[in-house]
Amino acid sequence: MLNINRVDKSFGNLQALTNVSLKIEKGEFFGLLGPNGAGKTTLMNIIIGYFAADTGTVSVDSEMMTYENLTMRKKIGYVPQDISLYLELTAQQNLKIFGQLYDLEGASLNKKIDEVLDLVQLKERSGDRVKEFSGGMKRRLNLAASLLHDPQMLLCDEPTVGVDPQSRNAIFDMLNQLNRSGKTIVYTTHYMEEAERLCSRLAIIDHGRIIASGTLIELINLLNQKETLKIQKNAHTQNKIQALGKLGHLSETDFYYELLPNDSYLLHSKIFAEIETAGIPNQFVEISRASLEDVFLNITGRSLRD
Ligand SMILES: Nc1ncnc2c1ncn2[C@@H]1O[C@H](COP(=O)(O)OP(=O)(O)OP(=O)(O)O)[C@@H](O)[C@H]1O
Ligand SMILES: [Mg+2]
Repeated sequence: MLNINRVDKSFGNLQALTNVSLKIEKGEFFGLLGPNGAGKTTLMNIIIGYFAADTGTVSVDSEMMTYENLTMRKKIGYVPQDISLYLELTAQQNLKIFGQLYDLEGASLNKKIDEVLDLVQLKERSGDRVKEFSGGMKRRLNLAASLLHDPQMLLCDEPTVGVDPQSRNAIFDMLNQLNRSGKTIVYTTHYMEEAERLCSRLAIIDHGRIIASGTLIELINLLNQKETLKIQKNAHTQNKIQALGKLGHLSETDFYYELLPNDSYLLHSKIFAEIETAGIPNQFVEISRASLEDVFLNITGRSLRD
């Protein structure tokens, strides 16, 4: 559905995007994960036609995206990173203005406003001024505004920043519901937990370049070391731990031993059999699977968290 082909974009001397290519299929929940300044918002702005790429193209359903192509732009809903709402106006009044931007009016607009307010669970607050809303409520209203024209694809630029955990979960539920109803979702974040939880496929972006893409499992499989065993240090484990040295690389911190198995495809049953033979009670053992953080660290040598 969305095809981004070899896009470059610079701002003066700053190269914000370099040779970015991505294909996103209809119905996907696609994540764009990257640290601050990676180029996520710039790419979003190019997808919606707000910025022109220096070179490269963006097409939706094989048709080229440009700022002038309003029909194309209507296929997309955009939830901007910076909340764009009129604080002095009510939720209802805000949505009227956004609806009119998409040539919606009258009864059909009112019906749509009711529908989206219902979806984002703000119906009972529709007459209240936005300046009285919490951060999470503003985020939800921002999302509602992007849905009035019933776009096929929704671009969400870090829609949970500054939102408490409960509102964050509510936003996840809403996006999952929209995705299940058939909408394609492109979701940017710098929280790897969000990308892991929500996205069926994702790309990692760093310094304006896509450095890896695929499903979570495909990305984890890029790593040699997919699992780590942590074994608590205590009277039950400390004299027995050396026996596990033959399974891989053993190291220790103040509270834990850490085992990186030599063969990362080693079966858990075999590892636990060795642990039992060594006489280590398995309640002191924890297996942790590699995360997107490890993938990022492995490729860039830096942590995703600043
Ligand atoms: N309008 C602009 N003019 C000049 N430089 C810009 C502009 N927009 C973005 N940049 C620069 O381009 C780079 C990428 O910025 P962008 O906002 O796309 O990153 P991001 O991944 O969205 O970051 P964040 O997670 O902080 O939102 C940054 O170095 C930024 O300073
Ligand atoms: Mg951004």
